[in-house]
Amino acid sequence: MTANHIILSGMQPTGRLHLGNYEGALKNWVALQNDFEMYCCIVDWHALTAEFEKTADLPEKIHQMAIDYLAAGLNPEKTAIFVQSQVKEHAELHLLLSMIIPIPWLERVPSYKEKSEELGLDSYGFMGYPLLQAADILIYRAGWVPVGKDQLPHIELTREVARRFNTLYGEVFPEPQAKLTTFAAVPGMDGRKMSKSYGNEISLSMTEDETRARLKKMFTDPQKLRKGDPGRPEICPVYDLHKIYSPTHESEIAPPCRTGALGCVDCKMKLADNLNAALRPVRVRRVALEKDPDTVTSALKSGADRARAKAAATMVEVRKAMHLQ
Ligand code: TRP
Repeated sequence: MTANHIILSGMQPTGRLHLGNYEGALKNWVALQNDFEMYCCIVDWHALTAEFEKTADLPEKIHQMAIDYLAAGLNPEKTAIFVQSQVKEHAELHLLLSMIIPIPWLERVPSYKEKSEELGLDSYGFMGYPLLQAADILIYRAGWVPVGKDQLPHIELTREVARRFNTLYGEVFPEPQAKLTTFAAVPGMDGRKMSKSYGNEISLSMTEDETRARLKKMFTDPQKLRKGDPGRPEICPVYDLHKIYSPTHESEIAPPCRTGALGCVDCKMKLADNLNAALRPVRVRRVALEKDPDTVTSALKSGADRARAKAAATMVEVRKAMHLQ
């Protein structure tokens, strides 16, 4: 089967999203929803593979993430936005696929070795993480999965599992392809990659003043101590953000930074103006949605209903192919 017009995307419910999530994924999903049949899954079961001891705040994290999705412009009439655990069919497919996947296929996924050592994860469910992801994708018979490079081994595994299933039981699944998103790297306030776990992020949910205050403390070229010192935009993370949010950065930011005429404080305030202006429509919608939880809940419910209908139809085919009831 060849690639189709169906997209499945997923994100773990980390709570409030930051600029890295927005520039790296969400903005792209919003653009894709016009041309594809889109399913956007908040993968709460995947979150349990690492955070099984901390489940109390999951509902709030899911709610905040759903607010960010809607505020960013995902349209629940076009895109099925839903929570993985509300479509139980994912679990059934995961179970059936677990019968046909050899354990070494899971052991050789790079994230398995890295994270199990780094985070001390050793559960059965953690090992099955990429297989659950495969079930998420295959159950919608998605042709495309928008992901970053780090997820390529998981998509490859999904293709291998689909092939194995099709060989054993007959063609049910198309082999999905990664739809690689290219986007500018989004540095955090300390110059490292923006990440919630580093606490260096700017969230969509921050106010304009909070954003300005964070940017004020952002790491810059360490050799530029005061206005007048020449700066090096090419190594400055503030400049990396200017590249995204300040269309005239090449003429109005880089040259005066290099000569020293533009000091870091002024440079950051210009960035704050542009960044806040770019996020303003999203933030205005976000504030309205915060006050209207019913709209968020009903979007997730209708998303789950649509997703379930599609997933259930696939499961009929799967069971038939496997001679199950
Ligand atoms: N593994 C993905 C991540 O960490 C999350 C995910 C789960 C996913 N299921 C998915 C992504 C299905 C795309 C498709 O980002």
